[in-house]
Amino acid sequence: MHFALVVAMLAMLCVMERTIAFSVSRVSRTQNGRQLSMMAKKKKEMPANPVVVITGSSRGIGKACALALAEAGCKVIVNYASQEQAAVDVCNEIKAIADANGKGGVGIPMKANIGNVDEVKAMFAKINEEVGPVDILVNNAGITRDMLTMMMQPNDFTDVISLNLNGVFWASQAAFTGSMMGQKRGRIINIASIVGQIGNPGQANYAAAKGGVIGMTRALAKEFGGRGICVNAVCPGFIESDMTKDLNKENLLPFIPLKRFGQPEEVASLVKFLALDPAGGYMTGHAISIDGGMAIGAT
Ligand SMILES: NC(=O)c1ccc[n+]([C@@H]2O[C@H](COP(=O)([O-])OP(=O)(O)OC[C@H]3O[C@@H](n4cnc5c(N)ncnc54)[C@H](OP(=O)(O)O)[C@@H]3O)[C@@H](O)[C@H]2O)c1
Repeated sequence: MHFALVVAMLAMLCVMERTIAFSVSRVSRTQNGRQLSMMAKKKKEMPANPVVVITGSSRGIGKACALALAEAGCKVIVNYASQEQAAVDVCNEIKAIADANGKGGVGIPMKANIGNVDEVKAMFAKINEEVGPVDILVNNAGITRDMLTMMMQPNDFTDVISLNLNGVFWASQAAFTGSMMGQKRGRIINIASIVGQIGNPGQANYAAAKGGVIGMTRALAKEFGGRGICVNAVCPGFIESDMTKDLNKENLLPFIPLKRFGQPEEVASLVKFLALDPAGGYMTGHAISIDGGMAIGAT
């Protein structure tokens, strides 16, 4: 009899315990739900017509990015260094696209040497004043000064570092402090290179800059993440553009599994994904290759 009483009491305790555990888990689920909905509220959506800065977008990959983003309705700052007419032509193409699709894309040409910190600061100040806060930055401007190390001149090295590496920092810093930090949203896409990952003889300067951009991408992703800003790098292989027009293709194709150079539009499509797709809002700190398989080696 005494034993039966003990068993009954234990059973009652079990039921009570389960009831308490259930209500605790309900409370914590509700708290989690509240936290999640608070986090969801914190995530800031892109406006319908985001302001996009694309450095070096008068030609090549930058131009393809400008057309792709403007087609989606972005207001694109078409930055250039010297070829004003080419930048104006890109803006005219954007106008024709916007007139046809009615999505409100705009192209605005803007001159600035991205390797010069004062010119970068002045350009971003002008954009903030005349166009609005920057939502998306594509760090694309770049040059090559290829030479074997034994013959490379100091300027060949420092000019490439100054634009391809320092310029990425000046523009990212200006976009962050001038717009994205306050808006608590933004996307930065750095055009690095497969050469920054696997190296290339005759390109110690370029590889150093692009490898640096990949490292900077990860550092900025960690630093800006708390503000809802995503920072990613895109690493193209050989892409058809003025930069690669003098290369001997026949010598290079054996190193590319897909046996062709890429098109600027293919890179632009990846940039558009990172810039505008909802998935791009939860990707940060990545270096994504678009290289016809070059990084994995020839087949
Ligand atoms: N093509 C490839 O195979 C390849 C592969 C990997 C990575 N990338 C990278 O992709 C980016 C674009 O390359 P691309 O092939 O399109 O080059 P591109 O056809 O030579 O075009 C370069 C662009 O950069 C601009 N630019 C040059 N110096 C500048 C400066 N100091 N300030 C501002 N803009 C400047 C040019 O403006 P102007 O017209 O005014 O001169 C032009 O719009 C570069 O960062 C490059 O390193 C290219």
